[in-house]
Amino acid sequence: MQQEMMTVINNKEIAHGIYEMILEGKITKDIKEPGQFIHVKVDDESMLLRRPISISHHHNNQLTILYKTVGKGTQAMTKLQTNNVLDVLGPLGNGFKITDIPKNQKILIAGAGIGIAPLYELAKQLSQQNHTLDIVLSYTGKDEVYYLEEFKKLGTVYISTDDGTLGMRGYSEDLIKTLPKDYDSVYACGPEIVLKFIQKHFKSIKNLYLSLEQRMACGFGACYACDTKKKNKRICKDGPVFNAKEVAL
Ligand code: FES
Repeated sequence: MQQEMMTVINNKEIAHGIYEMILEGKITKDIKEPGQFIHVKVDDESMLLRRPISISHHHNNQLTILYKTVGKGTQAMTKLQTNNVLDVLGPLGNGFKITDIPKNQKILIAGAGIGIAPLYELAKQLSQQNHTLDIVLSYTGKDEVYYLEEFKKLGTVYISTDDGTLGMRGYSEDLIKTLPKDYDSVYACGPEIVLKFIQKHFKSIKNLYLSLEQRMACGFGACYACDTKKKNKRICKDGPVFNAKEVAL
């Protein structure tokens, strides 16, 4: 983990309220797994604490984050322009474990809302390893859809929207229920209610990994503000990705 003033290469809105920011800096070289995150601090009074944002994907010395504008801090982030700098701590946490899985697996990747973001690097790496991917992407509505074309290049994509404006009308749980249950591995990220469903629905699958989203304070294991309900695991340091057997939701 290191702290660095990373340079903003690009920062733009890619769907309603969803921004893509490309950052350049040395931190990128330390990324080990898809699903790790960075802890960012904007030079703005409205953002006194750092906030965790998952790394969507990375290449050479650039990493990409996708963030949703939910408050003053993320609003302040939208103002950053090319060549501005952002105070970043990272890379942090443990990501998805994919190096020791057998060849030619049938894999489900499921993401909802901004939880889709960290799954892109994961899908890219699994696709490069020649696994067969079913990818469930769930959004609020078609205006909030992002990275759809990118995911389509990596596997078979299934879409749901809450309001039915694209794909199946319903939540990711409804969509997942229409798919087979015979996956070798399942990887998911999204709201707790979705993860809870996935944990139960695929309980017989050993290689089932969930990325938990939670407000954090320190971001590196010192304060226990992000405790999970089981075994004193800290989301920031022991996660945010856990085997489903390790956490109670
Ligand atoms: Fe401090 Fe996780 S945020 S221990």
